[in-house]
Amino acid sequence: MEFLDKLVLPQSAEHIKLLHYILTLVLALFVPFISVVFGGTFSSIYFLKRFKKTENPFYIKFSKELIENLTVNPGVGIILGLIPLLTAILIFVQLLHTSLIQTVSFLILSFVFVLAALVLIYIYRYSITSVKLNDSDNNKNENSLSISNSLYLKSNYGKIGLILLFVGIWFYVAAITSATNFSSWSFTGVITSLAAPKVLLNFLIFIVFAFALSNAAFLFIHLYWKRREKTSDSDYTKFMKDICSKAGLRASLPLPVLIAINVFSFSETTLSGSIFIYSVVSILLIFLSYHLFYMILNKNEYKFGSLIFFILIFGWVALIIKDQKAMTNATEYHSLVLSTDYDKMLAELKGEGTIAVLNGKEIYDVRCASCHKFDQKFVGPAHFDVLPKYEGKEGQLIAYIKNPVKVDPAYPPMPNPGLTPPEVDAVVKYLLEEYNKHKK
Ligand code: HEC
Repeated sequence: MEFLDKLVLPQSAEHIKLLHYILTLVLALFVPFISVVFGGTFSSIYFLKRFKKTENPFYIKFSKELIENLTVNPGVGIILGLIPLLTAILIFVQLLHTSLIQTVSFLILSFVFVLAALVLIYIYRYSITSVKLNDSDNNKNENSLSISNSLYLKSNYGKIGLILLFVGIWFYVAAITSATNFSSWSFTGVITSLAAPKVLLNFLIFIVFAFALSNAAFLFIHLYWKRREKTSDSDYTKFMKDICSKAGLRASLPLPVLIAINVFSFSETTLSGSIFIYSVVSILLIFLSYHLFYMILNKNEYKFGSLIFFILIFGWVALIIKDQKAMTNATEYHSLVLSTDYDKMLAELKGEGTIAVLNGKEIYDVRCASCHKFDQKFVGPAHFDVLPKYEGKEGQLIAYIKNPVKVDPAYPPMPNPGLTPPEVDAVVKYLLEEYNKHKK
């Protein structure tokens, strides 16, 4: 993917922030849509099978309506499915500029799979919606005969589409997981990345959420949006709302636990208050959805059909924002390097000649301040206590930070901060400046 890397320029700090906002927005379109398509296609194929077995005409009607309503039409598939994913790829290329890890490659693979999957799923959709249904019972046998020949074959398109979508979502989840764990992620191969425990957990959350949301979406469309068309057929309404609210409730039950495990799996440097808060918000919304699913199922409160859909969408969006926060934290240092490159480029463009030096304080704040303070002990010793021994020995200090060795038995060893030589120079310059100020 290096050709992509060559296309982008370093970003200013403001620009990087903006990119994170746009990314949140496009993913808030893509993720709910793709999950509804996934859940809808799965259920449609499943109920088509049930129809084949039981010949209950409700099943074929349900199967047909599911795929018809939840995939909307190919135009929507492009606008909510493909364009946001393509936009996300371009944004990731910019955000992870010069250190692409595999995030971008995974997203591109995801795009290819999702594209192929949507083509097949829409073929399936049009073959099933073109079947004329005859609801009256005496025509039942004739009806099912005319369906069986053509349709069951076409449902294979749906099945293959579903499998491709499954793989596409898996790659998508692996891409996002690698970006949100940027600082602690090392690429060990496609298979091992896909099978990494964090990726599997996030994938599970995605699939389970997809089932909860697609059932809520169908309740919304049927009970709220199209409620006037359906008043005539209350048996069918009861049939579908039983299935959807039961399935939705079951799917959403494990979500809070899964989300909680996900939060605690973030590394300490990545975890922040806002990640925690967005996860809690999402969990609370899911609790609320339990209640609404239950009211629809047992109390026949159909008016909640619309509310439950939006509650779950907000729950999903809270999780997406959480991932963006995690990514912002995990790539903080990388963003700093990018914006420093940008400042440097700007200085050259302006003809200021002097190449802007790396800002030692900024590097220090990100890479050292989590363990050190100048005037008191923290994880490591206070700088003002140790710096006197390095006076006039700048080279030794540089060597130490490039490759820390064990010094004081009272402290744990200092991990290698992994800075480039110019970065080490900048940090050391900053340390000594502060030390000299302090001495005066
Ligand atoms: C994960 C925590 C951690 C980080 C991050 C960290 N340090 Fe340290 N640092 C330590 C610990 C612990 C010691 C004490 C090590 C020892 O005495 O063996 C130490 C010791 C030092 C010393 C004293 C060495 C001596 O000769 O006594 C200096 C100077 C120092 N760190 C600078 C830095 C700078 C600059 C950075 C950022 C680039 C940094 N540290 C990042 C934990 C950290």
